[in-house]
Amino acid sequence: MVKIAPSILSADFSKLGEDIKSLEKYGADFIHIDVMDGMFVPNISFGIPIMKGIRKITNLTFDVHLMIEEPARYVEDFVKAGADIITVHYEADRHIDRTINYIKGFGVKAAVALNPATPVESIKHLIPNLDMVLIMSVNPGFGGQKYINYCSEKIKEVKELSNKYNKNLMIQVDGGIGKGNIKEVVDCGANVIVAGSAVFKDGKIEENIKDLKGEF
Ligand code: DX5
Ligand code: ZN
Repeated sequence: MVKIAPSILSADFSKLGEDIKSLEKYGADFIHIDVMDGMFVPNISFGIPIMKGIRKITNLTFDVHLMIEEPARYVEDFVKAGADIITVHYEADRHIDRTINYIKGFGVKAAVALNPATPVESIKHLIPNLDMVLIMSVNPGFGGQKYINYCSEKIKEVKELSNKYNKNLMIQVDGGIGKGNIKEVVDCGANVIVAGSAVFKDGKIEENIKDLKGEF
C-alpha cells in the first residue's frame, strides 16, 4: 500500500490546525514535518513548539524530516514533542549508525535521508536496521522545486536493497512530486510519497489528495 505524506511546509500557517484536520479527513497517511535549521539547508522553517501544538489535535503519524546539523542533539526533544518517525540526513551526521540506534532506543521509527548527489551505496549496510530510507528528489530547503530525474534510478537501487536485506523497509521520496510523476516514482519502488505544493495547491486539499491517489 502506497502512503501519502503531505508536507506541512506548504500549509497555510495562519490556519495550520484547520489544514491538519483537512489532511486527516481527506486521507493523508502521515504528516510530513520539515524541520530546517538555516545551517544544513539555506532556510529556517519551524520546530518543537509547533509540533507540540499540532500533536494535541491529531493522532496521525508524525513523520519528522530533520534537515539540521548534528541531529542527534535534538532527537529526544522531538520524541517528546510526539514524533513517530525520525529521519536524519546522512550528510549531517558523522556517526549515522550510532544515531539510528539512538533513535530506535526511544521506541520510534528511524530513517536516513540522502541528498540527491549522495549515493545509495553509502547506506547499504544500514538497511537491515532501518525502518525507512528517504530519497531526496530535490536539494532540500524549499518546497515547490522541480523533481531531479536521476533520482528515479536511486529509488530503484533502494528497492533492490530492500528486496535483499529488508522487505519491510519503507521507501520514501520527497521533492517535486505531483500528478505528472507520482506514478513513475511509485513504479520505481517508492511506497511513501511526500508532497507539499501538490497537496496544498489552491487550498484544495481534498481534490488534490484525490488526484494524487488516483494516479496509481
Ligand atoms: C524540501 C522538503 C520537502 C518539500 C516538499 O526540503 O523536504 O518536504 O517541502 O515540497 P514539494 O512537494 O513542493 O516539492
Ligand atoms: Zn521533507
